[in-house]
Amino acid sequence: MKRIGILTAGGDTPALNATIYGAVVRANRLKVEVFGLIKGFNCLFNPRVPHVHLNPLFQTIPELDPALGGSLIGSSRDFVDPEKKDDLDMVVERLKKLGIDGLICVGGDGTLNGLQPLAERLPTVLAPKTIDNDLGLNHPTESDEWVRVSDPAAKGGFHYKRSDSRATFSLGQMVNYVTPGYATAVYVSSSAIERVRTTAESHRRIAIIEVMGRHSGYIALGSAYGRPDIILVPEVAVDIEQLAERVKNIYDLQKSVVIVCGEGITDAQGHELGATTKSTDPAGNVVLSGAAEALRAQLIHLIGDHYFRTYRRGDSAKEAIFTRKVGHTQRGGRPILFDRFHAARLGAEALNMLVEGSNNMISVLQHDAERGFHVEGYDANRLRDRWGLIHARHMHPDFYDAKLMKPSRTGIDYLLPIFANALGDDDMEHIRRTSFAPSNLLQPYHSINTDINKRIRYLAAAEET
Ligand code: F6P
Repeated sequence: MKRIGILTAGGDTPALNATIYGAVVRANRLKVEVFGLIKGFNCLFNPRVPHVHLNPLFQTIPELDPALGGSLIGSSRDFVDPEKKDDLDMVVERLKKLGIDGLICVGGDGTLNGLQPLAERLPTVLAPKTIDNDLGLNHPTESDEWVRVSDPAAKGGFHYKRSDSRATFSLGQMVNYVTPGYATAVYVSSSAIERVRTTAESHRRIAIIEVMGRHSGYIALGSAYGRPDIILVPEVAVDIEQLAERVKNIYDLQKSVVIVCGEGITDAQGHELGATTKSTDPAGNVVLSGAAEALRAQLIHLIGDHYFRTYRRGDSAKEAIFTRKVGHTQRGGRPILFDRFHAARLGAEALNMLVEGSNNMISVLQHDAERGFHVEGYDANRLRDRWGLIHARHMHPDFYDAKLMKPSRTGIDYLLPIFANALGDDDMEHIRRTSFAPSNLLQPYHSINTDINKRIRYLAAAEET
């Protein structure tokens, strides 16, 4: 393989550049050219196919910094619809015109679904990325557990549901234990929770903090490091009456409560509290934006003004209960050591797999007690259900103690290896050196896009050289 393409698809994460870096460094050794495709699949719908040569003369361009969050080649939620054969043919033809012999997609479950038909036309592999940590399997046969349930209101007349598992769960059996991006998201969320706590305590308030993760509760689970009083995850329906009672118990004791909720939490009827509008993003995912606000409205109603007036001398429930979203801060900025290190290894493994002739494989980060964290290649076909669809992984129910509304012992055992050494000395040193650097005030922000723009080439121009 002489030249490969790499693209980053879906929402960004702090570890994308580290993954690209790992792939490019390995490519330099193997004398493979790497073309970065601009803005994910978006560039393949543009006849000029904007791209950047990431390793001219097999040297990594200086802009490719593994400690820089986001993606230097840009990302988008565009994808190739498997039903549109003409689009697929066009995309592959354009890649071939660029001289590309194989493709690395850095993406999550949506990207992996999209690359299934592509892999039938061009060798393609996936290097994983997602802050939601929802790419992979809780156990190797989990994809067999999906069934179709008739649902006249749903597209196609059915929806997918997981049937009862026949497997015995064990942490060492998980496929893709954790994905780069997750650790940094948890680090940011936990820090935010710790900071909001002091206001809740000083002003006798109840804080509801919403974290991302779509329908998977991993980020909410990991935010336990910030020591909230209550954690609510999408996998376990919220019993609102029970929650209100728990909130009052804690408030009676400490005059403040900190609640963390995943954006995908549901009520007892299975309705997503956060789906306040019916809108979807370009990839068809429901936009979940109102979970904390919906929860606040319900708690205001159930707890009522009288309760707070007893404790807060004149304040209403509306004044006492407030919400904050950690938002995109949990998805951006510098990746912490855990993410940088493993993202680079996964990127390098993806490159290896392509060069060795593999197709439709994922590089996965495995963990077991004997070997610790290690990287392997995994056949993407094993993630597909019997109809060929890849589903987002949900957090295993054993990770959560629904009564305590906190991580269970298994959940804690899951988190410990990831975070034991997740921060490096250089992460701390970076904060010390850069937070109040005088140049922050003196120099305008210099965007990576400015430098990359100068390096972008187009298909027509490439053909001439
Ligand atoms: O999938 C990653 C993610 O950050 C989700 O946790 C979140 O729901 C979504 O993307 C937000 O997407 P956007 O930045 O496009 O609003």
